[in-house]
Amino acid sequence: MEVFQTVSSLQAVLTNLSGSVGFVPTMGSLHQGHLSLIKKALEENTHLTISIFVNPTQFEDPTDFEKYPRSLEKDLSMIATIAPKALVFTPAVSEIYRNKITAGFYSFNGLDKRMEGNSRQGHFQGVAAVVERLFSIVNPDRAYFGEKDYQQLAIIRHIVVQKKLSLAIVSCPIVRDKSGLALSSRNARLSKHHLEQASLLFRSLKQARALYLDKDASTAQHHVNQLFSQAQEWTLDYFCIYDEITLREIDNKKTENVRGFIAAQVGEIRLIDNLSFSLI
Ligand code: PAJ
Repeated sequence: MEVFQTVSSLQAVLTNLSGSVGFVPTMGSLHQGHLSLIKKALEENTHLTISIFVNPTQFEDPTDFEKYPRSLEKDLSMIATIAPKALVFTPAVSEIYRNKITAGFYSFNGLDKRMEGNSRQGHFQGVAAVVERLFSIVNPDRAYFGEKDYQQLAIIRHIVVQKKLSLAIVSCPIVRDKSGLALSSRNARLSKHHLEQASLLFRSLKQARALYLDKDASTAQHHVNQLFSQAQEWTLDYFCIYDEITLREIDNKKTENVRGFIAAQVGEIRLIDNLSFSLI
């Protein structure tokens, strides 16, 4: 494993490689969800680059950025265990943004207008800016993203087409703990008490899926609202059933390319999850 802090040192090695390069962008605090992306990228490519960079432009709240968990030493030892030949890029903010720490001015064709885009203004402009910059530095053949951040995945696919970038975006399924809670670096900030309650998110998605398929979208919606109104320490931000390609509301009930999305806050921590509502 080699660790690079500057663009020039990383590129000096990348330019001499032959074979395909897989790329896994992360913000660190690695867990099994990240490792599943790394394992897939290892299987499908000759070389692997992983970035660890907590990107300031995708946090609208500076406190959230500061409190974002960081554990570089632990991350590096996890990578060394499963990907001993990986090239790990850990740039400083100045290396990515030079003198100007600004997000992008992308048009996402409405993909950013709902869900996380509504709740976190400017978030996807920051994600798109850093991902495009990282792609231009690493120039990978394939880049790996988790379905955990489904809207992010859709937006990145959109930019790749819009900007005619020559790489493949590979999506990876959500990794969950035994209770069904989707793994997330933010889970580390949950108190033990809230962690015990956090499976509510996945439980409500599964129940909503069954109700949607048995009955209809409004029955599912009503049920989720009820579950959260009874859960005193939780605030439901949104639950929606969308076409998973356009991320728009569905006019009529359909049983393919349809997905439930949820975001809720417990204590200070906001969690998101999603589940396919398609029949197969
Ligand atoms: P981060 O939250 O560190 O996530 C890095 C990648 O891991 C993302 O593609 C995310 O969807 C995936 N991931 C996280 N938890 C997962 C889980 N439980 N199962 C499967 N995949 C999971 O997403 C970001 O960083 C940033 O926005 C980034 C793309 C790096 C840009 O800054």
